[in-house]
Amino acid sequence: MQFGYFDDEHREYVITQPDTPLPWINYLGSENYFGIISNTTGGYSFYKDARLRRLTRYRYNDAPLDTNGRYIYLRDNDPSNPHFWSPTWQPTRTKLDTYECRHGMGYTTIRSELGGIAAQTRYFVPLGENLEIWELTLENKRAVAADLSLFSAIEFCLWDAYDDANNFQRNYSIGEVEVEDGVIYHKSEYRERRDHFAFFACSEKLTGFDTQREDFLGPYRGWDNPRAVEIGKTNNSIALGWQPMGAHHMKVVLQPGEIKKIIFLLGYQENPKTEKFDPFHPLLINKKTVKPLIERFLQAEVVDQCFSELRSYWVDLLERLNVSTPDQDTNRMVNTWTAYQMMVTFNFSRSASYFESGIGRGMGFRDSTQDLLGFMHLVPERARVRLLDLAATQLPNGGAYHQYQPMTKMGNNDVGSNFNDDPLWLVLAVSAYLKETGDWSILDEKAPFDNKIGTEASIYTHLQRSLQYTIDRLGPHGLPLIGRADWNDCLNLNIFSDTPGQPFQTASAQEGKIAESVFIGGLFILANEEMEGIAAYIQKDDDVITCRNNSMKMEKVVNAAGWDGDWFRRAYDHFGQPVGSRECNEGQIFVEPQGMCVMAGVGLDNGKAEKALDSVNEHLAFEHGIVLLNPAYKKYYLHLGEISSYPPGYKENGSVFCHTNPWIMIAETKIGRGDRAFGYYKRINPSSRESISEIHRCEPYAYAQMIAGKEALKPGEAKNSWLTGTAAWNYVAITQWILGIRPTFDGLQVSPVIPEDWKGFEITRNFRGVKYIIKVERIGKGNDVSLDVDGTPIQGLVVPIPAAGTNEVHVLARLR
Ligand code: BGC
Ligand code: NOJ
Repeated sequence: MQFGYFDDEHREYVITQPDTPLPWINYLGSENYFGIISNTTGGYSFYKDARLRRLTRYRYNDAPLDTNGRYIYLRDNDPSNPHFWSPTWQPTRTKLDTYECRHGMGYTTIRSELGGIAAQTRYFVPLGENLEIWELTLENKRAVAADLSLFSAIEFCLWDAYDDANNFQRNYSIGEVEVEDGVIYHKSEYRERRDHFAFFACSEKLTGFDTQREDFLGPYRGWDNPRAVEIGKTNNSIALGWQPMGAHHMKVVLQPGEIKKIIFLLGYQENPKTEKFDPFHPLLINKKTVKPLIERFLQAEVVDQCFSELRSYWVDLLERLNVSTPDQDTNRMVNTWTAYQMMVTFNFSRSASYFESGIGRGMGFRDSTQDLLGFMHLVPERARVRLLDLAATQLPNGGAYHQYQPMTKMGNNDVGSNFNDDPLWLVLAVSAYLKETGDWSILDEKAPFDNKIGTEASIYTHLQRSLQYTIDRLGPHGLPLIGRADWNDCLNLNIFSDTPGQPFQTASAQEGKIAESVFIGGLFILANEEMEGIAAYIQKDDDVITCRNNSMKMEKVVNAAGWDGDWFRRAYDHFGQPVGSRECNEGQIFVEPQGMCVMAGVGLDNGKAEKALDSVNEHLAFEHGIVLLNPAYKKYYLHLGEISSYPPGYKENGSVFCHTNPWIMIAETKIGRGDRAFGYYKRINPSSRESISEIHRCEPYAYAQMIAGKEALKPGEAKNSWLTGTAAWNYVAITQWILGIRPTFDGLQVSPVIPEDWKGFEITRNFRGVKYIIKVERIGKGNDVSLDVDGTPIQGLVVPIPAAGTNEVHVLARLR
């Protein structure tokens, strides 16, 4: 069953009924001001940091679903039948005659009609601005004039979203607003240390307003039934304490056929500390800088202009890589939605979504480094900055803070470090950056350790320390020690947590000199191979040899202690017993080491790779994807940790943890099995699951972190959409390994491993300032490639970098 459809031409997903199984969201903003917005306007906005600078309130986990948003009410003032509704369905949930929500690239438009009144609201953040625009277009399709009242409503958050949801004894007394010329200013704590405020403006002359929530709603009433809207009259309330909100009220009389545009602005503004207050009214906000801004964006032409700029921004960005394959799900996800999702993960890491509250987690070290793998070609300059920020949170011993706070860029002490895979991802990310951009200067760029002045070292040194960190932490079998956890945050082999509520990753740990990770072993080999390539390119011959020795040594260990007979083991626990082995009662086989070890090339020369991948197919793959492990743990194991805290089939305990599936896809391409690789890609591609939306439940246009596994109560049900490394990795798997167009240090490689029955495909890709137009034709059933570049056959698989000044390169690849 579907709840909408893709409009590929406009890069929109069109939702045709408001009561989707879960709120289906979109993101506004791409620089500093952001918002999440659902298909019925639920969500909230913030500046830079979803916890520390939250503009509006949102109630997670509330009933009805998706409470608080960017609300608009229409009231028909006809005295014989006064009534009101929300043209975006929430919060009144009045049955509408028509409804359509279009989620596009950085904007959302909701259109509806009721009783001959058509309303369309377009929400977006103009490029470069710290404000959002709601552009409402009303049309009277009735034969008679319509006497309407229009109300807006938002609830302000007192900035720190965590405190806002806790510290009521203080917060009920600190809310402050100003209203001037119809603009509502939220300025809680501005009188003391804050120098920022929010503004909520409207292009129409107001009949009234409210800024105190209970005055607007009426006691014991909700957003679905505000008293002010019911009676058609606001109170001009000025909030002092309690719950400051913003509601504009205006009268709108529309003649038959009349169309009217009304613009609302919600924004964030900072004043210089010395000019916070109005020189003539020392307790009022100095509005000198904000007023011209408000005036400007309340003009319809400016709004139109900004909207077209936003559209062009996304078109230009997304056109950097465009594919045309025989498969529509692939085309739309690669060309639009996965690229878009990667940009969302770049902006939000794992902070704000319908499942991430925006208060808990900062920027993850391993999360952000992996996200980078996918979108290098979209925003290389921003990727460079991100890499330097990440490197600066590395510790002198090569380890890394597991998270850092986006506003301060400081490592998060509550979570700390000792997630032993973390630093290795930095090597992969920097290598991907170098391959994409050819900007070798980044290696000499300096970044401190732990953000401490005076500790600066080159990025090359940072990468060396990353590798050294593993070398300094090897266990009894010679495998890397696991620390608090590796990629799988929930495999906590050193923690032994028996106290309810204790966070599994940070509870005090065993010394950790025994538990080892085969997965990190694989990752270490992969990272060494990348480092070897880097060192070779800059002619550090000794380092090349060191890397080669390191990976050869680790490969031997993985082949021995890491091999179980039919697949790679996962780990060794605190007692030196294997995890992910036939010897175990549960959790006999895990997906991560099969993917990582084969990606790193282990087993390609001795049949183990193929065997491991066949075991994945036999034990882990099912119709909804590849589950993380099998059989799932049925009870809690003290020595395994959080993984066994989840019921079977959920999260790390045997769901399809989508992040890991592309590793298997890539591994399959390594052994030339295009059909299998692509088959796995299709199973979790959100678009190809659109027709089972009643089962999948999450958005059909964004990857979710997990899909319930075969042992779950409801297999196939997705959860935790949007903020997951799944986006980047799937993008890498499909574009670089299945379609096979991948950047290398020396040029663009073309090595497709596609399904046998594909006749070919086309791809255009920007690479180092040149547009590559690549046509792949299948003339045999295998994966052997021969290349013509601009009409001339070349040797090998890498299209060399063309002469300076070249704008376009045409490549014809024949597959036999
Ligand atoms: C989740 C993991 C996540 C971790 C982060 C766990 O509860 O299951 O997926 O990585 O929290 O702290
Ligand atoms: C989600 C976390 O953000 C990520 O860092 C981790 O690798 C996966 N969960 C698996 O536990």
